[in-house]
Amino acid sequence: MDKPLNKRRKYQRLARLYDLLDLPFEFRRYQPMRREMWQGLKGDILDAGVGTGRNMAFYPEDARVTGIDLSAAMLAQAHIRKEKLGTDVTLMEADIMDTGLADDSFDAIVASFLFCVLESDQQLPALRELGRICRPGSEIRILEYAISENPMRRFVMALWAPWVWLVYGAGFDRRTEEYVAKAGLDLVEVRYLFSDIVKMLVIRPR
Ligand SMILES: C[S@@+](CC[C@H](N)C(=O)[O-])C[C@H]1O[C@@H](n2cnc3c(N)ncnc32)[C@H](O)[C@@H]1O
Repeated sequence: MDKPLNKRRKYQRLARLYDLLDLPFEFRRYQPMRREMWQGLKGDILDAGVGTGRNMAFYPEDARVTGIDLSAAMLAQAHIRKEKLGTDVTLMEADIMDTGLADDSFDAIVASFLFCVLESDQQLPALRELGRICRPGSEIRILEYAISENPMRRFVMALWAPWVWLVYGAGFDRRTEEYVAKAGLDLVEVRYLFSDIVKMLVIRPR
């Protein structure tokens, strides 16, 4: 298992380069997904694994958003984006498996490309923590990669996988949905937002 400490170190080093490395994918691939992920959400919202704040441009206007991340260096980049965009968001350093936030804090939780960074044995504790801090009737939206069924795309993903692991500590095959019921949550929808390789899981507390 790659411990949170190792992930923190990785993102501490990556923080200044993160937006640049993601640039080829951000505008054409990710931004339409981010828009869809945040659509219709309101109230108190958690941006879990906020990173450099790529979601900020899509926060609903009247929402009160809190962004948490394991890496102070990623949060420093998020602070720069917050100032630049004039976004009203509270940023905090916290581990998604043990946030220290109060029970029933949020009306919605959004996690984009966080669960593909968490190892298999971190999926369940992270989902349990999300279940604890979200309110009854709330919605959890998780955006992550999946391995394509298409042989050609599968092959290309297999070529990319070592780089994605080395640079981001991420995997394409985390299968987060398999842990949802065990965490005491309901999976209500799996919506593919880019081909069959990026999906949004819509989850509700029971
Ligand atoms: C691939 S980046 C995604 C960032 C952002 N959500 C986005 O869509 O661009 C993953 C982020 O999750 C953070 N992270 C990794 N493990 C974490 C954990 N256990 N708790 C909180 N954040 C974590 C990393 O520091 C990094 O900023």
